Amino acid sequence: MAHLWSGRFEGDPDKALIEFGASFSFDRRLFDDDVRGSAAWSEGLERAGVLTDADGSAIRAALDQLLSRTADPSFFNSPAASSDEDVHSFVERELVAIVGDAGRRLHTGRSRNEQVALDLRLYMKRRLPLLQQAIVNLTLALLDRAGVAGNTLMPSYTHLRRAQPILVSHFFLAHVAALRRDHKRLAAVLDEVDELPLGSGAIAGASYPIDVQFLAARLGFSRIVSNSVDATGERDFVASFLHAAALCMVHLSRMCEDLILFTSEEFAFLDLADETATGSSLMPQKKNPDPLELVRGKSGRVIGRLTGWLATMKSLPIGYSKDLQEDKEALFEAEDTLRGSLDAVAAVVRGLTFRGSVSERAASGLLLATDVADYLVVKGLPFRDAHEVVGALVRKLVAAERSFEGMTVEEWRSHSPLFDEDVVDWVTPSASVARKRTPQSTHPDAVAAALAEARAWARASGGDERP
Ligand code: ARG
Repeated sequence: MAHLWSGRFEGDPDKALIEFGASFSFDRRLFDDDVRGSAAWSEGLERAGVLTDADGSAIRAALDQLLSRTADPSFFNSPAASSDEDVHSFVERELVAIVGDAGRRLHTGRSRNEQVALDLRLYMKRRLPLLQQAIVNLTLALLDRAGVAGNTLMPSYTHLRRAQPILVSHFFLAHVAALRRDHKRLAAVLDEVDELPLGSGAIAGASYPIDVQFLAARLGFSRIVSNSVDATGERDFVASFLHAAALCMVHLSRMCEDLILFTSEEFAFLDLADETATGSSLMPQKKNPDPLELVRGKSGRVIGRLTGWLATMKSLPIGYSKDLQEDKEALFEAEDTLRGSLDAVAAVVRGLTFRGSVSERAASGLLLATDVADYLVVKGLPFRDAHEVVGALVRKLVAAERSFEGMTVEEWRSHSPLFDEDVVDWVTPSASVARKRTPQSTHPDAVAAALAEARAWARASGGDERP
């Protein structure tokens, strides 16, 4: 069997090593991109006077024909394809099978080193927006739940200990805030990807007068890479993507952890829809949050892909090395995992229901201690002294297994003469949230405004608006 580089060698290559080095089993995913890039390159060669118009047109017609054959699953699995090293060899062989010599001219001035960089960039340009879309869809599910929650209260937690009352919708919007940063990070990756590497050759550039500006416009790139040595041997944009994906998985994992806790018997603020939970083969009472646990678990994979890829890159001399072929499985696995996880979490979130009475009960009691201190501050006591007074009061109540509710005015006064009858109305969860003043706070008006703003963002970002 002939390889793209057979001329240089006398003997046949070692079969096992050829298999070891082959990437076609996974880089066939870049087929459409390789074909598009090849069609553009044929135009570039034609304009440079390297290909005749007739050859160029024949090549492009044949490439179109190849594109239409991908619907047939056996296309990639033909006996001939089984010996193709990678998607670039596959496309070239199929092309030559249709147009003969014209196809053998297409690789003039072009190297697989720039071709694979181009294909990856084209692939990411069409696939990253789909991940962004999945992020928007998840935010829509969260915003929908936030809207349904209305002014329902829950405790917030620091150190996983009750901190202060917040609106349940404020909690959902916290996760939306993280996802919006992920969306923006993917946009930044798309910007990094937006440079045409063609014209770089194997490393030193092309010896033909290729109009790279024309090719960039043809392929939808706004810039040309600045250096051929760098462009053929760097995959920073893959690392940037893996970082964005890993961080998004970290956010999903944290959200899953919250939902696992809050739907548990111990918290019971939220309920999972039956369709999004699983049972136990042994324990009839179980309603397990498997999809959430799985997403939490899969975050490790994507973090692993990021650290693995950084390790692969770190000792490479400048210029292409075969190590770089490892970029694709990292990219594809991270992409698939993130996509699957975003969709799974969105499905679970859509089915969440609220147990407002439980979360509101948990939002009252000693977690109002800060509010009691604030009361004394309003009455003129320095905050440090107020903290001291309320700390002593809390210590006493904890020992007596009581809370602020049910305290008589005399009891309040025994801790500070500044306490008046109005303290009873002051120290409630709804009064607490209503006293918040800043735009990022859990004040119901601030949360309503944040919800409206987030909805407008999701709409403008092309959300599906599915319930
Ligand atoms: N399959 C290779 C990769 O993914 C394509 C580039 C091959 N270039 C080379 N000089 N062997 O990196």
